[in-house]
Amino acid sequence: MSEYSALLGDAVLRHRTRIAEHSARIESELANRVKSEFIANMSHELRTPLNTIIGFSKILVEHDKRRIPQHEIVEYAQLINDSAGHLLSVINDILDISKIQSGKFTIDTREINVDEILRYCVASFQKAAEDARIKLTTDIPNTLPPVRGDASKLKQTFTNLLSNAVKFTPPGGQAMVTAMATTDGGLVVEIKDNGVGMSEQELEVAMTPFGQVDGSRTRWREGAGLGLPIARSLIDLHGGRMNIDSQKGKGTTVSVLLPSRHQVSASRGRDMVLGEEFVATASD
Ligand SMILES: Nc1ncnc2c1ncn2[C@@H]1O[C@H](COP(=O)(O)OP(=O)(O)O)[C@@H](O)[C@H]1O
Ligand SMILES: [Mg+2]
Repeated sequence: MSEYSALLGDAVLRHRTRIAEHSARIESELANRVKSEFIANMSHELRTPLNTIIGFSKILVEHDKRRIPQHEIVEYAQLINDSAGHLLSVINDILDISKIQSGKFTIDTREINVDEILRYCVASFQKAAEDARIKLTTDIPNTLPPVRGDASKLKQTFTNLLSNAVKFTPPGGQAMVTAMATTDGGLVVEIKDNGVGMSEQELEVAMTPFGQVDGSRTRWREGAGLGLPIARSLIDLHGGRMNIDSQKGKGTTVSVLLPSRHQVSASRGRDMVLGEEFVATASD
């Protein structure tokens, strides 16, 4: 009997080892795939604008020899400017996420009006939405309570969310930005679209830094996969919450809750360092 149980014990152990080896292999295969998709995608994101800058600036240097008409010169200069701007934003995102991950990201809070920030962000996306044939509407009351926050970081957050709403909604779709006060003096902003949406698993990928639902080279939209994780961390730093509700094929609603300014000053007292800055304690 004891011999039988020893044999059984061995068999169970061997079985467990096999399962552990199998899941470790799957995990490392997945990590490798994500890594190679990441490298392929990032080198594409960095090289494409750089190639444009190098190529068109060379043409401009030789404009005399090539007899390029004035309007084309302006066009090429615009392309160089756009590409450089894009490159800068990718690099800034990479620097931001690495600061956030090392807990060194700081925000500079003061009393701010979120409705002004939202109107500014929406206005800066109207042209892109129009070009993409997406109806971008708002419902932002001007009676929202002021909150304590970092205006430039909230701009960055809403810009990331709006850019996704416009980028992942096919022509003919709609995106809407609403804001409302909460009963305790805070506010909720919702950025809602009826675009391609995400399944639960896809949403998990989307929330990881550099994660994109379709990470292959043939993706239909560009980006570094940092917009959502950065937005979430920035809202965490404001003592708020960012929630995503998405359904594949139906659309996505991102809600951002910002706490009342009284709540923030009370709970942040202990985290504050010099001035109004405090250090990230990003949870994820
Ligand atoms: N509003 C949205 N609708 C559908 N998919 C979205 C939306 N927002 C984000 N996603 C998915 O999440 C991924 C990650 O988004 P993000 O972090 O902003 O990176 P990026 O925009 O650079 O791809 C996107 O590639 C996309 O697949
Ligand atoms: Mg994005």
